[in-house]
Amino acid sequence: MAWASFLQCVVLLLLCVHAAMASSDVPLYKNPEAAVEARVKDLLSRMTLEEKIGQMMQIERSVANASTIQTNFIGSILSGGGSVPKEQASPTDWMDMVDGFQKAALSTRLCIPLMYGIDAVHGHNNVYGATIFPHNVGLGCTRDPDLVRRIGEATALEVRGTGIQYVFAPCIAVCRNPSWGRCYESYSEDPNLVRNMTEIIVGLQGKTTKPGSPFLAGQYNVAATAKHFVGDGGTNHGADERNTLSSYKSLVNIHMVGYFDAIAKGVSTIMVSYSSWNGQKMHSNRFLISHVLKKQLGFKGFVISDWQGIDKITIPAGINYTSSVELGVNAGIDMIMIPFDYPSFHADMLALVKSGHISMRRINDAVGRILRVKFTIGLFEHPLADRSLAKMVGAQDHRDLAREAVRKSLVLLKNERNGNAPFVPLSKRATKILVAGSHADDIGRQCGGWTTTWQGQSGGITPGTSVLEAIKSTIDTSTELVYEQLPDSNFAKGKGFDYAIVVVGEDPYAEFFGDDADLTLPNMGTQTIKNVCTLVKCVVVLVSGRPLVVEPYLPLMNGLVAAWLPGTEGKGIADVLFGDYPFEGKSSRTWFRRASQLPMNVNDQQYDPLFPYGFGLTTAAVVGDAASSRSSTLLFFFTLVLCFI
Ligand code: GLC
Repeated sequence: MAWASFLQCVVLLLLCVHAAMASSDVPLYKNPEAAVEARVKDLLSRMTLEEKIGQMMQIERSVANASTIQTNFIGSILSGGGSVPKEQASPTDWMDMVDGFQKAALSTRLCIPLMYGIDAVHGHNNVYGATIFPHNVGLGCTRDPDLVRRIGEATALEVRGTGIQYVFAPCIAVCRNPSWGRCYESYSEDPNLVRNMTEIIVGLQGKTTKPGSPFLAGQYNVAATAKHFVGDGGTNHGADERNTLSSYKSLVNIHMVGYFDAIAKGVSTIMVSYSSWNGQKMHSNRFLISHVLKKQLGFKGFVISDWQGIDKITIPAGINYTSSVELGVNAGIDMIMIPFDYPSFHADMLALVKSGHISMRRINDAVGRILRVKFTIGLFEHPLADRSLAKMVGAQDHRDLAREAVRKSLVLLKNERNGNAPFVPLSKRATKILVAGSHADDIGRQCGGWTTTWQGQSGGITPGTSVLEAIKSTIDTSTELVYEQLPDSNFAKGKGFDYAIVVVGEDPYAEFFGDDADLTLPNMGTQTIKNVCTLVKCVVVLVSGRPLVVEPYLPLMNGLVAAWLPGTEGKGIADVLFGDYPFEGKSSRTWFRRASQLPMNVNDQQYDPLFPYGFGLTTAAVVGDAASSRSSTLLFFFTLVLCFI
């Protein structure tokens, strides 16, 4: 089967080349030696209006097929969250699907290849078996741009390992209110920390040769997307897709500065936010998209809408679609993530251009940008999957990298003394320990949203190591480990546990499903803390996309660790819990006492956090204290002995 399709595409490519060679000369746009801008100009001059409008359309894979692609000259296809070729699809299944669409695109008159886009926001998270890295809120706690660059590189290889060339990542939102359901997709409340984390773009795309120009990708890199432009993390009360009320100056200084770095690093595409700025929908904001982003900041890649972002220009969505298409395209949006109703979009675009409501100048700007990215990433020369990369999906060295990221992202918030030593690191050679909690043995919960499905889900959703499995593989064989997911108030009584590890937190969510004004720890979590920590010395490991209300339960805990949403590599948690590595994470967010304090961010005048932005205990320091107290005790006794000699 693979050979047949390989031969088919070789024949197809030869036909394309032959068709080109058959004419007196090879069209300039097919010449990889020609300058990109010359290739863009040449191809634009050959395209019909239908072909140009087709390039601006991105449709969902579930409605895509060869005839749709050929008839509408479709320029791009996407997988929405959780949209897969089949359950637990293999890398080869993915490559067969993407190449199938690509062959249809290559069979059109001008053989323009399509881009396939997907949300790889913490690894190649739609794909079963892929390495799932910590979500951005945890990566922000590492403050390690080199680490996120390496994560970008690994993610690009896993994405290419499924034949895909384009990712809707990174999200460079600056989340200013953790009530926002997407706060875990944001590296931090601090724009400067978010700016540093844009280094992931260099990992995903490769190093651009000229600041500001889209990257020169090889087949081991992918086109990246900085999203969501602009102010997505600044909405009132953190309400997803709603309104950011701010001066232009604070919009720029808080929410836009990350785009300066993303553009300088050559990001290929920028996705527009669903939200509004001072009451105007971003998807219709010509000033910010065309004047600021494209003209002032000199962005040379293409601007893509969000999923049905054009429809959502109106409330309710889609009520005046034709006018929304005109508003969105004239605002400067180049590619429209439709994703289903492409016939309406196509018909409206034809009519709007023919009536002059959308100019050919605007169409040529949009299509020119799309072609520039396609030429720059080498898509015309390498349109089909490199099947040798299938083994990259879930590769062990990527999992090791994810484990390193987990270690560096964990934040130690509390660490009482236990005798003359700190409570954490825990002993590997205790006699008997208890592991409890809803999140202790649940890969889905430790990965969070955007994992194999859009919203994520609990359970063994993809290969990985749970916290419980990691603990089991770390402690001494002589230690008795008892696991109880939801212990009642009697369970821990009189059992002689040396200590307990309680792993609790939030259930997976994505986007507006995660909007939450109360931010309390789900009740089975608080109940488990009470049932265990009132009877046994305990360290609580909190698995959540954001800070939660923990102050009322803090006195019950001997230790508290913020693990955020660590992903598949739970061993990174055991590594620091048991002292094989030091805790070094510093919180990327202000940890509030009560939700009524929000929004509350670093440098605010009114600032009374439980744990401030940048807080994080280090076991090295704590162990050092313990060591120094041990050495001062020894010194005292040594001096005492000398007195009696
Ligand atoms: C979603 C998100 C966006 C994502 C897109 C495609 O609604 O807002 O971040 O890239 O749709 O899945």
